[in-house]
Parts: sequence; structure tokens; C-alpha cells
Amino acid sequence: MTLNLENLQKEARAELEKVAHRVDLEDWWRANLGRKGKIQRLTRRFGELEPRERSAFGQQINEIKTGLKAAFEAKTAEVERNELEARISAASIDVTLPGRRSSQGGLHPSTRIMRQMYRIFGDMGFQIYRSPEVVTDQQNFEWLNMPPHHPARDMQDTFYTTEEGILLRTHTSPGQISAMLEYHPEPVRVIVPGMCYRSEQITARSEIQFNQIEGLAVGHGITLGDLKGTLTEFAKRLFGDDRKTRFRASYFPFTEPSAEMDVSCFQCNAEGCQLCKYSGWLEILGCGMVHPAVLRNGGYDPDEYSGFAFGSGPERIAMMKYGITDIRSFWNNDLRFLEQF
Ligand code: DAH
Repeated sequence: MTLNLENLQKEARAELEKVAHRVDLEDWWRANLGRKGKIQRLTRRFGELEPRERSAFGQQINEIKTGLKAAFEAKTAEVERNELEARISAASIDVTLPGRRSSQGGLHPSTRIMRQMYRIFGDMGFQIYRSPEVVTDQQNFEWLNMPPHHPARDMQDTFYTTEEGILLRTHTSPGQISAMLEYHPEPVRVIVPGMCYRSEQITARSEIQFNQIEGLAVGHGITLGDLKGTLTEFAKRLFGDDRKTRFRASYFPFTEPSAEMDVSCFQCNAEGCQLCKYSGWLEILGCGMVHPAVLRNGGYDPDEYSGFAFGSGPERIAMMKYGITDIRSFWNNDLRFLEQF
């Protein structure tokens, strides 16, 4: 019997040559060199040979085995190298691509307008004074000349806490009292910024939380002229030189006399439009000379001292300045709104 070992070897090598993946390598091994592979099957036919042929056959089969094993190892190394290279090139970075921008936060429009206001009042010698958002009825109302049942309380619907007489401030005016009690008998020149809360119906024009910036100047010989000069200058610096201002008599329990300041409408330049309700003017703050009772509550003798105060709403000012029509936009965190500032 002769067995064509040469052909077997050629076929096996040709098949191995075609292998490109690890799984096919395993198949190849199983088919050729495995326990049930072609070579093993041939070896089992050893007994069919003439005894004199056996040793030459054994030697030949061993040579073929060794040769195929070496070829298999070389192929394995090649397949692994190719796979590694493919993985590396798939994971590689194209350094010529443009970079990915990291997204950057910005300042909230309220923060922006408030910082502009801090700067203007800061330049005029006012310092920022912080006072609590949770206050007593006394601080929020009584010391500001609004005793229980005073009708002015109705204008500020209040969030009360479960603790008797403790509430969320409805305005920054209690900060006036805190500052006076802290600084008397020294002169005071402060602005008090921060959140205020009112239990209101939320609409395009009113929110339950909003910022205010309060102002207070107390000292010797402070007059209504100082009030007008300071606030007129403030409006010019915030809105620009061409905006006109006017003061209208008004009423607040904590000031006497009291006024409201208007600026000429941005949109129509005082011609009359929907924004200013055809008046040509937009109200931007309330103000007045500090009421003697309030001065006294702050520790100052009204016969010796006088002062002026004002209260403004930065969101309202921002709405006018930027033409924002819905106050709810400030707190509903829609980036399409926030990113415009
Ligand atoms: N506290 C008032 C409000 O919230 C605003 C205000 C008006 C404050 C006149 C003042 C002022 O200091 O003098 O409606």
C-alpha cells in the first residue's frame, strides 16, 4: 500500500494559507492535526503497511507533522498580528479632525443685571449688605410701619411657615432695618440684593419668587435731592444717557414722601406702544425718604438723621432692557432662553 502523504501535506498547507481568522485556525487544526484529524487517521492505518515500509512511513509522517505544526504556529502569529493591527487602526484618532467643544455655562440673566447694578451703586459708595430670606412678621412688616391689619399688607401676599410669626420675606425692605440696627449711629449706604417670595398666582407678569435690590442711605442732612440725583444717575448708567427719567408721587408705608421712578420707554422712545401701555414710560422702582418711625426702629433719631430708600426688581428691569415678555422664563430653566444672555 502506498499513501500519498505529499498530496495531503500540500492540501493542508494550501488550506492553512487561506486562513484569516482565529476561529478558522482552530478548525484547521482540528481537521488536520487534531485527534480525529487527517494525519491521525493515517497513522491508524500503520498496520496495513508491510513491516519494511513502516519505519520510513513513520519518519515521513513525523516530518510532515512537525512541518505542519511549524506552519500552524507561523500562521497563528500572523493572524494575531493582523488582528492587533486592525484593532489599533480602528481605535486610532484622526488628529486632523476639529476638536470637540466643551459646553460652557453662562451667567443667568438675573445675575447679569444684578451685577451691573452692584457695580453702578458700588461706584457711588454703596456696599452690598446681605440679610435673611426667612424673617419675622416684625421685620417684614411691623418695623417697616405696617402694623397688623395695615391695608398695605394686602399688596404682598405672604408665605407663612408653620412657626408662628415666621415667614418668607415678601421684599428686601427688612434688610433696611437689619443694616440700621447693625451700623447705628454710623451713616449707612447699602444695597440689599436677594430673593423675595409672594404667594401669588403665577402669570406672565408675576412670579412667586423674584429678586429685589433694596437701597438705603441714612446720615446727616440727606435730602430728597440726594435721592433724585442718585437714582437719576443710576438710570443713566444702566440704560444709557438718552433715557429720560421722571418721579411720580406714590405711597409706601415705610417712606414719606414716596415716589415711583419711570424711565422713558425703550421700545417706542416715549412715543407710546404696547410695552409702555401707550404712556411712553416704564416704572422701574419705588423710593422715598425713610419714614421717621422706620428710622427710629433702626436705632436712629429722626430729628438728627434722615435717609432715602428704594426698592427695585432686577427681573422686571431685565425684561424691559431685553424685551422679555414673560417673567416665568427666568426660572423655568429653558436653555434656549438662558443662552441668549
Ligand atoms: N418694598 C417695596 C415693594 O416690594 C419696594 C420699595 C418701595 C422699597 C419704596 C423701598 C422704597 O425701599 O422706598 O413693593
